[in-house]
Amino acid sequence: MSSPISTADLHDEALLARLRAMVAESPVPEAAISEILQALQKARGYIDDEALQLAATMTGLSPVKVEELCTFYSLLLREPVGIHVMRVCDSIACHMAGAQDILAQARQHCGVEFGEVSRSGKLTVIPHVCIGMCDRAPALMVDDEALGPMDKQALTRLLAQLEADVWKPS
Ligand code: FES
Repeated sequence: MSSPISTADLHDEALLARLRAMVAESPVPEAAISEILQALQKARGYIDDEALQLAATMTGLSPVKVEELCTFYSLLLREPVGIHVMRVCDSIACHMAGAQDILAQARQHCGVEFGEVSRSGKLTVIPHVCIGMCDRAPALMVDDEALGPMDKQALTRLLAQLEADVWKPS
């Protein structure tokens, strides 16, 4: 769900028109909340307080309720992230196939803890539940792209591409 971080203006008329259309196409305004939050995260990189308030206003939900939804859905991010977000699956199939080694290598590369922005600013690595790629374990996602099976060499190449801004989803 996440995409390269941007500083999209929440007053941008094109963005607001898309959000209004989501509300208009929903049976009730609250039903659009998930789609709106995803769109805001795509535009901003994460759901900051301003985006959360906008989502609440547009759907008629309370900010507290929207905050709860952001907490519940692990794909929604409330903290700043790097240009790319890497979600490394640590559920059972990937765990058995070496996910902990992948996580350790990715964290060492970033030089920070999981969920934080890497020293280069290019990446945030987050352990994640099953991403539906169990047959290609260990698997991970970069932004919206699922990749696997991953090993030390493949991850080294991927990290180098991300650092050099030459990685592209297929
Ligand atoms: S357990 Fe890792 S993708 Fe399903």
